[in-house]
Amino acid sequence: MTRAWKNPLRDPRDKRLPRIAGPSSLVIFGVTGDLARKKLMPAIYDLAHRGLLPAGFSLVGFARRDWEHQDFGELVHDSVKEHARTPFKESVWNRLAEGIRFVQGTFDDDDAFDRLAQTVKDLDAERGTGGNTAFYLSIPPSAFPVVTKQLARSGLADASDETWRRVVIEKPFGRDLKSAKELNEIVNDVFPEESVFRIDHYLGKETVQNLLALRFANQLFEPIWNANYVDHVQITMAEDIGLGGRAGYYDGIGAARDVIQNHLLQLLALTAMEEPVSFAPRALRAEKVKVLSATKPLEPLDETTARGQYAGGWQGGSKVPGLLQEGGFAKDSTTETYAAVTLEVQNRRWAGVPFYLRTGKRLGRRVTEIAVVFKRAPHLPFDSTSTEELGQNALVIRVQPDEGITLRFGSKVPGTTMEVRDVTMDFGYGHAFTESSPEAYERLILDVLLGEPSLFPVNEEVELSWEILDPILDHWAKKGAPEQYPPGSWGPPSADEMLERTGRNWRRP
Ligand code: BG6
Repeated sequence: MTRAWKNPLRDPRDKRLPRIAGPSSLVIFGVTGDLARKKLMPAIYDLAHRGLLPAGFSLVGFARRDWEHQDFGELVHDSVKEHARTPFKESVWNRLAEGIRFVQGTFDDDDAFDRLAQTVKDLDAERGTGGNTAFYLSIPPSAFPVVTKQLARSGLADASDETWRRVVIEKPFGRDLKSAKELNEIVNDVFPEESVFRIDHYLGKETVQNLLALRFANQLFEPIWNANYVDHVQITMAEDIGLGGRAGYYDGIGAARDVIQNHLLQLLALTAMEEPVSFAPRALRAEKVKVLSATKPLEPLDETTARGQYAGGWQGGSKVPGLLQEGGFAKDSTTETYAAVTLEVQNRRWAGVPFYLRTGKRLGRRVTEIAVVFKRAPHLPFDSTSTEELGQNALVIRVQPDEGITLRFGSKVPGTTMEVRDVTMDFGYGHAFTESSPEAYERLILDVLLGEPSLFPVNEEVELSWEILDPILDHWAKKGAPEQYPPGSWGPPSADEMLERTGRNWRRP
């Protein structure tokens, strides 16, 4: 049970993340990993800085290193200084630091988990964490079974009527439908589904949540949000960085499993789903499940999908290695760093509208966007030369960077002749609002502590996403090495051909 507590640090005018977590502690497994250092610990500090954590909030790190509490404290301190969004304030840090503990051990070490159980208990007695603890598994999925079993064995997973225990799991949730099911079973054996929080950090992004506001708070867009008006949808997640240092995670996983299975399919679900009866977690998730059940890959897969691997070369004035030269990757790795797929949402609203999803590393620039591209007007009462430069109307949700929305439409070029050309109308977060957006992990960690599950995909969504992707992955597995593409380009030629075949082109954001 969470006690009412008023936090003196919190600015009551700040409406962005208005709820404060109740008494609780957070245990992180995998504290020395990139994610913990770059995202999780800074996000915890940012929440503390904004007064959204309870007074006795405590953070426990669990890792193999032979560390004392203060060594872990230093790691948190450095990662906060380097990566936190909000300014470093001694008073905030000191308060947070009082609740930092470290437990040394490996995942198969019963004693270590018993010590962890004791630490969590002591923190409750010393700092009033209310017996409420979340366990963040920032570890490879192969370690989920042993850690969840240890949490069960040591009693750490046991909630009571008055207290909660939650588990947070990071993607990848398996590597196909079969392994995802096995994983879900293992986790659900120990934690009931309502205590499992599967993180998909794209759902914590402000611009992604705004998709719901755009669609369902306005009258303007929904009437044309269907196959009568929409020609196709392009969902792009492009990154300019390579995979140096990430071989351990990425080799054998590839772009489709890394981000299409989760982030991009979640973006598709939010773009294509029906209006939920409310934004209550159950209602929202039910609509996502429905739309994902209707989503299928379009065949033949040889023509409707493309994959590639970045080659070495020059990018932005620097010489960069190809994937096969990156340290740690197998010299004959067939892991794709670029993936594009064509999906269809087989329901009345979307029948016949292709959804093109693409993602890649070492592409021209970092950009994530959802472009809803509309059909051409059925008739153009102009000379054909007047509209030679007119494209298709498009509504582009710019997820990042340069967060905002662009509407593209035709307009007369000033002059004595009738010439129509594309122009854009822009909404930019930076111009429209003075408030800055919280980081996705800030929002999601707070939601875990609050027990607010809306932004976390349920088991069924994860399994449906694998069901969509599995046939494509199987198809690719039968083909040899992916096509190479130059760094700084927009992917392999086969990706362009995939769209050209249908008379369309990828956007060049
Ligand atoms: C992660 C992927 O989920 O998202 C990474 O594993 C990717 O490969 C990252 O780089 C991108 O996140 P963001 O928030 O920077 O778009």
